[in-house]
Amino acid sequence: MTQKKFNTVSLIRKKRDGRELTSEEIQYLIRAYTDDEIPDYQISSFLMAAFLNGLNDTEAAALTESMLHSGIVVDLSETPGKKVDKHSTGGVGDKLSLILAPIVAACGVPVPMISGRGLGHTGGTLDKLESIPGFTVDVTLDRYKEILKKQNLVLVGQTEEIAPADKRIYALRDVTGTVESIPLIAGSIMSKKLAEGIDALVLDVKYGSGAFMKDKEQATKLAQTLVGIGEKFGKQTIAYLTNMEQPLGNAVGNWLEVKESIDCLNGGGPEDVMEITHLLAGTMIYLGEKADSIEEGIEKSRTAVDDGSAFQKWLDIVEEQGGDTEVVKNPDSYPKAEFIEEVKSQKTGFVTKMDAYAMGMVSVELGAGRRAKEDDVDPAAGFILHKKIGDSVKENETIATLHTNNKGTLTDAKQGMADAVIISDMKPPVGKQIAYKVDKNGVHNYNKG
Ligand code: URA
Repeated sequence: MTQKKFNTVSLIRKKRDGRELTSEEIQYLIRAYTDDEIPDYQISSFLMAAFLNGLNDTEAAALTESMLHSGIVVDLSETPGKKVDKHSTGGVGDKLSLILAPIVAACGVPVPMISGRGLGHTGGTLDKLESIPGFTVDVTLDRYKEILKKQNLVLVGQTEEIAPADKRIYALRDVTGTVESIPLIAGSIMSKKLAEGIDALVLDVKYGSGAFMKDKEQATKLAQTLVGIGEKFGKQTIAYLTNMEQPLGNAVGNWLEVKESIDCLNGGGPEDVMEITHLLAGTMIYLGEKADSIEEGIEKSRTAVDDGSAFQKWLDIVEEQGGDTEVVKNPDSYPKAEFIEEVKSQKTGFVTKMDAYAMGMVSVELGAGRRAKEDDVDPAAGFILHKKIGDSVKENETIATLHTNNKGTLTDAKQGMADAVIISDMKPPVGKQIAYKVDKNGVHNYNKG
């Protein structure tokens, strides 16, 4: 199909002046950029204009569609059933994908999951999976389909064929100060998810100090935009607004989080992790039509943990993707970091606040994340929290244990962790884990958390 050509400068001016672009105009910009007809500096100007003046819902949908069709939309019809994925906007200690994906697959819903790597202070599912010796996340599209068909589950990274325009545009946004825009984030996330071949999607939109969106109102707007785009493309989409004021669970760092996920799949995980896991898994099971309601989905999710079928599915997928199942069965046999040190409380009182962003940066300092794109991550690095918000603590009691293979990082990391935990005399109220559910009917208070 021949596409209409526009004057790129006129389109940049139009957005700069706060006017609405037509879907055809947005399609032109994205297509021409992907085909190298428009240089980086012009698309960057457009992105900044969109960042400053916003994109309305029609423009955001056109952007998503253009990026989605810059690559292929995977056909997963060989695997029967409704395919459902989950996406999180990212946080500290967020290992939920590792736990809920095998749960949902064990309940009969196919889960084609394409994940990302750690970004800034937040961890990434791919880095966590790769901490399992031998586990491979780089597969061809044919192998992606084959694993899903065989296991009802596949856990991989983005291939070249999926939304290539987003890949290039995201890299530009990263270096032009245009990441934190609701329509640009929504278009970026949804173009990739829609290209995976899914039928429905559950979104975990995080707010708070450890999240991308610190502010609950902004996060709600992002959730509404994501749900709006998903529904516009005919995919049932449900989002939850969840609390990231402190790290999720106790473990932060790649292998440490895999180990905590194994505990969760064996029925022993921290309560905050399991509450959100069962809610998201239950919603996926409902959207995958293996339960008549979200509540029934949650029951099925709990049963899959209790009867061992979720852990068995986890072992199956680790083996299928080349990982060492022995270490998954005996996580204590994993080589520990060379330097393990405790951070002690300076006073007696209650943990009142945790700066999850600062804690995420401590984990990066210890080696669990990247400062530059090409950095390697240390699978054994990270920390374990022994206290969470609301807990009482005595002077000199251990708050956290730091793990690293780089001794030189310990002084700053210990100070960073101590500074990130606020202890005071009054026991604080403990915030709700789950604030809202957002679906095609709007924003609903979530009252069960
Ligand atoms: N994650 C994405 O995939 N895209 C964004 O723009 C932000 C977070």
